[in-house]
Amino acid sequence: MKVSAFALALVVAFQAAAAVVVPATAPGAPTVGYYNGKCNCSVEGIVNDTVKAALDADITKGAALVRLFFHDCFVRGCDGSVLIDPTYANPNPEKTSGANIGLRGFDVIDAIKAKLESACCPNTVSCADILAFAARDASRYLSKGGVDYAVPSGRLDGVVSSATDAANSLPGSTFNVAELIAKFAGKGFTPEELVILSGAHSIGEAHCSSFHDRLSAPSSQINPDFRDSVLAKDCGAGGDDPTVENNIRDMNAASLGSLARYAVPARGGAYLDNSYYVNNLNNLVLFRSDWELVGSNATLRHVREYADNGTLWNLDFAAALVKLSKLSMPPGSTGEIRKTCRATNNY
Ligand code: HEM
Ligand SMILES: *[C@@H]1O[C@H](CO)[C@@H](O)[C@H](O)[C@H]1NC(C)=O
Ligand SMILES: *[C@@H]1O[C@H](CO)[C@@H](O)[C@H](O)[C@H]1NC(C)=O
Ligand SMILES: *[C@@H]1O[C@H](CO)[C@@H](O)[C@H](O)[C@H]1NC(C)=O
Ligand SMILES: *[C@@H]1O[C@H](CO)[C@@H](O)[C@H](O)[C@H]1NC(C)=O
Repeated sequence: MKVSAFALALVVAFQAAAAVVVPATAPGAPTVGYYNGKCNCSVEGIVNDTVKAALDADITKGAALVRLFFHDCFVRGCDGSVLIDPTYANPNPEKTSGANIGLRGFDVIDAIKAKLESACCPNTVSCADILAFAARDASRYLSKGGVDYAVPSGRLDGVVSSATDAANSLPGSTFNVAELIAKFAGKGFTPEELVILSGAHSIGEAHCSSFHDRLSAPSSQINPDFRDSVLAKDCGAGGDDPTVENNIRDMNAASLGSLARYAVPARGGAYLDNSYYVNNLNNLVLFRSDWELVGSNATLRHVREYADNGTLWNLDFAAALVKLSKLSMPPGSTGEIRKTCRATNNY
């Protein structure tokens, strides 16, 4: 059969156009407003209302949701894989990894999913999208509106969740700056974005085991009063791996001694802002991975930049979270809309 060059050119042009169009709507390329018109209720409205109620009941859930989102996206992309519970068939999903110590906020995701399934939008909204919306809403509430952004949606939930993947993909709190830069570069983030995202440590809490190394770090790397009279004291107070606030601002002023001026009681453990950078320049951050950012000129200049301008940080943090939200599952992965966020559909 004779095919004219003109017809062939048409076919090639059509295929080229299709190749451009198809990936834009395929899973893995989320779009803002994906659920509009797909449900009898506002999906993002229900997420927003449920996050608001959860934070009203326990404001610390906000930090939990922001970290949950980071830990989801850095491991196999934003696919809800961090939400999967252990089963007989898969006893070691991501959440059992030591890298996920202290992970919480799962109950908020469950509550949102239950409302959507029973009320107005069954079998439609992925757990991965719910987490992405919830982290945005938590960031907006905790920053009093300073951090806000439109969340692209239309992700699918993954069916693979492995503690080994979590251990290999997530940064460690004892990493040096070269290791941190390399880990973030592996996900497409610049050293500046590493600095921007680390500012999330202005909120939340940490277990003593997560910064144990800092109790013996030299005074050039951590304020010695903070190390000896605050952290070592709190961690030595007994109990099984106690927690402390990530931000000295949120610690009890009465326990801070000479550092009491850094406490701002009204903020109450839940104000997402650029205070992390100011603390860092004063050697008053928890993790070695935080302090490392002032130990290299490549990152130090950004720490200074964000310490100086909180508005700039709000904007850049929002943009970095949008970028984080675009990390997708490895090519060829299977996806689904889970019925419950804690299990894949085949259990
Ligand atoms: C740069 C590398 C990072 C390291 C090494 C790191 C490490 C940690 C560790 C060890 C904890 C305490 C966990 C515990 O002991 O319970 C923690 C808490 C937290 N991290 Fe990170 N993190 C990093 C980056 C990030 C990023 C990029 C975000 C979000 C954008 C984030 C958000 C949080 C939040 C909000 C908490 C408090 C969680 C809560 O209160 O439940 N972290 N991080
Ligand atoms: C989120 O919900 C609160 C109250 O539940 C409401 O005042 C606010 O307008 C909502 N915001 C968005 C962006 O939907
Ligand atoms: C939306 O409401 C219509 C009419 O009541 C119903 O037929 C449909 O199944 C509902 N869709 C969802 C997703 O609940
Ligand atoms: C940063 O740069 C200054 C001057 O260029 C240099 O003296 C210093 O050693 C550098 N510090 C680090 C940690 O790279
Ligand atoms: C802080 O950053 C914002 C956003 O880029 C900018 O508009 C503002 O001028 C900056 N403020 C200062 C004091 O540099």
